[in-house]
Amino acid sequence: MSLPFPDEPYLRGYYRPFGAEMEAEDLVVEGTIPADLAGTFYRNGPDPQHPPHPDDRYHVFDGDGMIYAIRLGGGRASMRNRYVRTRKFELERAAGKRLFGVFGNPRFNDPSVSPMEYNTANTHIWPHGGALYALMEGCPPTALDPDTLETRGYETFGSTVTGPFTAHPKTDPSDGAMHAFGYSAKGPGSTAVRYNIIDSAGQPRHLAWLDQPYASMMHDFALTERHVVFPCLPVVISMDRAMQGKPLTAWESDRASHFGVMAKGGAGGSDVRWVETDPTFMFHIANSFDDGDDVVIDVAGSKRAPLMPAVDGSLPDPQESRFTLKRWRIGHNGTFREEQIDGLDLQFPRIDDRMQGKRYRYAFVNGTARPSAGRIDGFDSIATIDVERGTRDEFSFGDGAFCGEPVFVATGPEEGEGWLLNLVWDSHANESILAITDARNVAAGPVARVHMPARVPGGFHCHWRAAA
Ligand SMILES: [Fe+2]
Repeated sequence: MSLPFPDEPYLRGYYRPFGAEMEAEDLVVEGTIPADLAGTFYRNGPDPQHPPHPDDRYHVFDGDGMIYAIRLGGGRASMRNRYVRTRKFELERAAGKRLFGVFGNPRFNDPSVSPMEYNTANTHIWPHGGALYALMEGCPPTALDPDTLETRGYETFGSTVTGPFTAHPKTDPSDGAMHAFGYSAKGPGSTAVRYNIIDSAGQPRHLAWLDQPYASMMHDFALTERHVVFPCLPVVISMDRAMQGKPLTAWESDRASHFGVMAKGGAGGSDVRWVETDPTFMFHIANSFDDGDDVVIDVAGSKRAPLMPAVDGSLPDPQESRFTLKRWRIGHNGTFREEQIDGLDLQFPRIDDRMQGKRYRYAFVNGTARPSAGRIDGFDSIATIDVERGTRDEFSFGDGAFCGEPVFVATGPEEGEGWLLNLVWDSHANESILAITDARNVAAGPVARVHMPARVPGGFHCHWRAAA
């Protein structure tokens, strides 16, 4: 028996738990799936099995990971979705109820569970070295079968990944190696950060350790051709605070932001040069590159973290925590400068992955030009933003549409030559589609709309894996 879910914004509408696993062949297609699209679009996102403890509070980052795989080829489409069978998922399914506190908060953990088993595997889905990984930043990657989505278990890359592993690794286009890190790497609330490089075949190549100035929730990091940058921003984890009944993770407005700059493949420790500036925030980096001895990082940035309470538990003003595309320059002389690239209220920025770490031109985003007051992540648009010229090519799916992260699939040699794929929920029709749009002519709207057999709840990150 599962209990009803509480009436909370991230458990209603777009985010209402779905809870079913499906397979469907020959999906209905409006328009034409381009002949050069052959592969699988993956999407990870939260789909909680059970409501939290009545005194605990659900958070959208906390639901159990559900993977959608939409296969395209020969002009046809099929889909499959599966929960990631983490230890947490299996224990809670067997118990018929929630056993873990939200974010693994020890105050609400059932005595029968180990805090180390809190893994939602709900954030990103990442193919590497022939394998497919469901990622959640508190645990090692969970390996899945890329075709069936069957869970295979943790991947520790030869015991070099000994705990948390970012949901935002980077693939170095020069050699196909995966660069990644884990924060809270010596226990929740520790300042230890582990840096790993995994080669293109999935073998461990490099391991280093560093300490950040305080225990920040480090969601993303930057990789350029010569550097890695670890952002320590003022969302801070405190086990002591959690045990006092206050937020485990909170925005601490009196903290500075710090950026740890290190040579790519560096040894950690004292090889890291920290640059300090006023509090600022981002969850996601579009791209980063070296400009002389400066490092440029383009981010979906805000003044203050959304979705994260202050130390006293109060939630942020949505206007202060909206994201726009910003350019952060970390000077070789220790300076920090910010400028705005585009004012669109956006969520997830992506690029042509061939440009990872290089000077580039195009960012692909979901966003909205509508007033944001009162909406829960109601991003009705996708756009290609030319970061050099400052222009935007945008398409709105209209009132009541909720767009997910756009993924770029290259089909030609030039940057930006290819298709954008993103899931869209039409809240009026209660229908979900996979939209396929020309990345160089977004305003023309999708060339194909692939209809899902049921509503796909709001989720996080996506990836494309080309057919072999
Ligand atoms: Fe993310």
